[in-house]
Amino acid sequence: MVLDAIRARRTTREFTDAEVSDSDLELLIEAATWAPNHRATEPWRFIVLAREGEMRRKVAQIVYDWTYENVKNPNPERREASSTDAKQEILDAPAFMYVYSVQGNNDEVTQENYAATACAVQNLMLAAHSMGIGVGWSTGRPCLANVGTAIGAEPDWDIVGALYIGYPAKIQHRQSEAQRKPVNDVTIWS
Ligand SMILES: Cc1cc2nc3c(=O)[nH]c(=O)nc-3n(C[C@H](O)[C@H](O)[C@H](O)COP(=O)(O)O)c2cc1C
Repeated sequence: MVLDAIRARRTTREFTDAEVSDSDLELLIEAATWAPNHRATEPWRFIVLAREGEMRRKVAQIVYDWTYENVKNPNPERREASSTDAKQEILDAPAFMYVYSVQGNNDEVTQENYAATACAVQNLMLAAHSMGIGVGWSTGRPCLANVGTAIGAEPDWDIVGALYIGYPAKIQHRQSEAQRKPVNDVTIWS
């Protein structure tokens, strides 16, 4: 049931070494494209960086450099460690992709497009979950490092996230530990 998948899906950032095939990635992206989108803009764009590919290595290095320049910790060893971690996580992910949203002709459409693309990512994550594949959605270092033009994104695309994808090495938050507020804390019934 969709409801079970919605509840059981968890962010995953540690993976086994098992490969995620291109055909599986295609299936995930196709699932993403079934997200609702107003005015049929289909605003999502996906950039997949092959595991052993030159572009993956290039992006990992850009993220390393960005992290080294921007981590707040003044200790050079800590900076080096954070930067190496950020780089290695990108290199190690069995699959790794960026998701962008194209802008509309005005702010209203741009916002709709961004919302639709976020729905697309959730579709992708739920489809992945149904296939035993885990996804970690990040808007952190891999996005802040501004890799857009290096990977072929148009300069005016809005970044929605970087997705680390693979078969979970372990369940990061056990279902019993995953918490959400009760419905009545977040709902006004009037
Ligand atoms: C827009 C967005 C950005 C996120 N960025 C990050 C991130 O940069 N780093 C990270 O570790 N997790 C990130 N996450 C994952 C959330 O931290 C995660 O969804 C949250 O902890 C709840 O866990 P769950 O996905 O297992 O329910 C992001 C999630 C969303 C929706």
